[in-house]
Amino acid sequence: VTTPLDWLGETEYLRLRAPREEELEAIADLWTDARATEHIGGPRDRDMILDGFREYTADPHSCVQNEGERWWAIIELSSGELVGLSALLEKEIDSQTETELGYFLVPAYWGPGYATEAASLVANHAFSDLELGSLVAVIDPQNAPSVGVARKVGLEFEREALRPDGVIRHLYRLRR
Ligand SMILES: CC(C)(COP(=O)(O)OP(=O)(O)OC[C@H]1O[C@@H](n2cnc3c(N)ncnc32)[C@H](O)[C@@H]1OP(=O)(O)O)[C@@H](O)C(=O)NCCC(=O)NCCS
Repeated sequence: VTTPLDWLGETEYLRLRAPREEELEAIADLWTDARATEHIGGPRDRDMILDGFREYTADPHSCVQNEGERWWAIIELSSGELVGLSALLEKEIDSQTETELGYFLVPAYWGPGYATEAASLVANHAFSDLELGSLVAVIDPQNAPSVGVARKVGLEFEREALRPDGVIRHLYRLRR
């Protein structure tokens, strides 16, 4: 049975489906890229990313159950290339359990609006299929492109939020 976790669907330019094992190196390239991670905690340890996503590709359904994480590979229809990741991540924010909408593109693909297209599809799934009450994005206010994507998907600034590492982020929210 194919579920939205395996195959979320297609937009005009993109396909969203579960990340695959043969994409682990590309995913690790993204998470270790200084520019791509500048506003989201900096480059990660490559082996940690490989291990984490290997586990996810092996069994996405159990990762949702255990970690509350849903990840989709964003594939460019015209080239078949992995251009990024989008996600729904359960997070504790100021003692509340929230679902964060994540979007993350390979820098070569920044600009034409892919993140907005992908994140809109994921948000639609969160409301229509998962029936979530609201989605948040936790954004470094310096991250202008991310603020732009959040606003275009329909999220609005709610308040400042203090993260566990002591940094201040801006919390954006969209209600169903
Ligand atoms: C955030 C990210 C996905 C945005 O991707 P993108 O392809 O640049 O997004 P878009 O082209 O749709 O641009 C989004 C909007 O941001 C705005 N924007 C982009 N660059 C900007 C800049 N330098 N200054 C001000 N606004 C900017 C624009 O308003 C644009 O909207 P427009 O189409 O109406 O002009 C991408 O930069 C990325 O992957 N960054 C690293 C990961 C990350 O930070 N993710 C977000 C975590 S909160």
